[in-house]
Amino acid sequence: MTEFVKHIPGPRAQELVARDTAVMAPCSGRVYPFVMERGLGSEVWDVDGNRYIDLNAGIAVVSTGHSHPRVVAALQDQAAKFIHMAGTDFYNEPMVMAAEKVTSLMPGTGEWQVFFANSGTESVEAAIKLARYNTKRQNIIGFYGSFHGRSYGSLAITASKPYQRKGFFPMMPGVFHAFYANPFRPPWDVDAEHVAQYALDFIEKTLFTTTTPPEDVAAIIAEPIQGEGGYIVPAPGFWQGLRDLCDRYGILLIADEVQSGVGRTGKMWAIEHEGIVPDIITSAKGIGSGVPVGAMIARKEVASVWKPGAHGNTYGGNALAMRAVYETLSLAEEGLMANASEVGGYFMDRLHELEDRFEHIGDVRGRGLMIGMDFVKDQKSREPHTEMANEVMTQAFKRGLLLLTCGKSTIRFCPPLVLTKELVDESIDILQDTLKAVGA
Ligand SMILES: Cc1ncc(COP(=O)(O)O)c(C=O)c1O
Repeated sequence: MTEFVKHIPGPRAQELVARDTAVMAPCSGRVYPFVMERGLGSEVWDVDGNRYIDLNAGIAVVSTGHSHPRVVAALQDQAAKFIHMAGTDFYNEPMVMAAEKVTSLMPGTGEWQVFFANSGTESVEAAIKLARYNTKRQNIIGFYGSFHGRSYGSLAITASKPYQRKGFFPMMPGVFHAFYANPFRPPWDVDAEHVAQYALDFIEKTLFTTTTPPEDVAAIIAEPIQGEGGYIVPAPGFWQGLRDLCDRYGILLIADEVQSGVGRTGKMWAIEHEGIVPDIITSAKGIGSGVPVGAMIARKEVASVWKPGAHGNTYGGNALAMRAVYETLSLAEEGLMANASEVGGYFMDRLHELEDRFEHIGDVRGRGLMIGMDFVKDQKSREPHTEMANEVMTQAFKRGLLLLTCGKSTIRFCPPLVLTKELVDESIDILQDTLKAVGA
């Protein structure tokens, strides 16, 4: 059992939480009082000197680990040269290099072009705008349980938690929702093996025949693994079916890889596990190692229709962000993606051992270092045990492990891709103690 007996939150943390509460807009829902002082790799320290293992990486952002020396060196070098020179109006080498790098790492054999943004939601906005512009159609199909961001276009597609939309209607029109092929909790009373077909049939036989004609649909957008929705790996055949559907009706297929991309699942893009090539990939989070940046990468024949001025922003292509992107993608390519696969596989095996021993763990699923542990009230009904997932998160914090939940009852593990097996073992020990303490 790990010794972690310090009083949490400590005095510095308490003071900073109080000051934060006074001046920060209260829309952020912080779930426990972790106040960061510094980080290194997969470990972080709070302002009172307590050490934690970070198994969420700032919500799947710090892919190369906290303050990776190569990222730090690139940022320092760039900051001394120049920090910003509007990428929409001028040229600069860091932007060209980042664009060449990301477009060289795309699935399939075709050519790609990139638009740089500053966040996930902006990448999704760019994808929606490109899809409408390219197809001259208006409608977008998204999925229940999905999360694509909080700006109005992406929020209209986001369908993961009602409080994210409450008070903000009306949404952007032209959005329709379908069912994600969730094999653990199928939306219909069918076996897991039939879920994908039911989900695809719903789009073709219900949506297309009742609410939106396919000729008016510009794009279908989905996450290769639903993130905020609960780390749900869709049933086999779902993505191939979506690809076929899109090809049949001239619809663009968008894979939102904001959370799943950049090596996290053991491949550069999670969609590569599905063996299909989408038309557009949206990225952010892990692509900048913590520097705010997003990328909307589209097949060249899709992106190249945009006329100059059709879309733009001030900070896209920011030199610091571009250096971070280049370094991050290089590190992913050179070994972090392979580490995600290997350490992720090991982590998954260790979590399955816990699943066998604790009756309220209903499912452990994921790919690479994108893993979810789903808590259930009982194994038969699979009713989500929300309170238990929350309790595991807060109790683990008190024992030195930073976790976050997602969906209704899932603990998500999305650590830095530099995670080691030793830290996995230490995390499993803490988790085991936590699970015993909460009566899992
Ligand atoms: C799949 C996905 N898309 C889009 C977003 C929005 O990204 P951002 O918060 O950077 O706007 C998120 C954020 O969690 C996400 O997980």
